[in-house]
Amino acid sequence: MKKLVVYYSLDGNTKFIAQAIAEAVGADILELKPKKEPNAKSPMKYLWGGRQVLMKEKPELKHFDTNPQDYDCLFIGTPVWAWTYAPALATFFTMGNLKGKKIALFCCSGGGKGKTLEKMKEQLSGNEFIGEMDFVEPLKQDKEQNAVLAAQWAKQIGNS
Ligand SMILES: Cc1cc2nc3c(=O)[nH]c(=O)nc-3n(C[C@H](O)[C@H](O)[C@H](O)COP(=O)(O)O)c2cc1C
Repeated sequence: MKKLVVYYSLDGNTKFIAQAIAEAVGADILELKPKKEPNAKSPMKYLWGGRQVLMKEKPELKHFDTNPQDYDCLFIGTPVWAWTYAPALATFFTMGNLKGKKIALFCCSGGGKGKTLEKMKEQLSGNEFIGEMDFVEPLKQDKEQNAVLAAQWAKQIGNS
């Protein structure tokens, strides 16, 4: 089964988990990179990102060569922005037209994930959901323990 980890990350938390998953199950990685992004260190990112979510924006992404259609199983990860998935994922969902795939979802939040994973599922109907997992600021809290948890979770579902 060919596996791909697709994710967006502004501050590195989702990236950290994505890498732990990819390493654990031998998956390829596709990082979604919007052409325009706020400075991750600036508090303005909350206003900027929250506005993007509210306006339901689909930011243009930098070109990537990986074709998600070539994979059987996708792990899709996002930071939580305004209680939902980040706009880069909204763009990906319109591009992907994914059907009949095995999909596992994960998110990183500050503790209020809202209905992020449910909203992702709505955008990915026609696929089989094989797992979901959420993390709270994994780079700040028990970093290594979170990497272990992510790897265990991924192995368990990636081999099912
Ligand atoms: C624009 C923006 C909106 C956010 N909204 C939420 C939120 O609604 N709930 C929450 O728990 N955390 C929220 N956060 C915090 C991030 O989800 C959290 O820091 C996450 O770990 C960041 O992932 P990343 O490092 O991969 O970018 C928000 C962060 C940003 C930049």
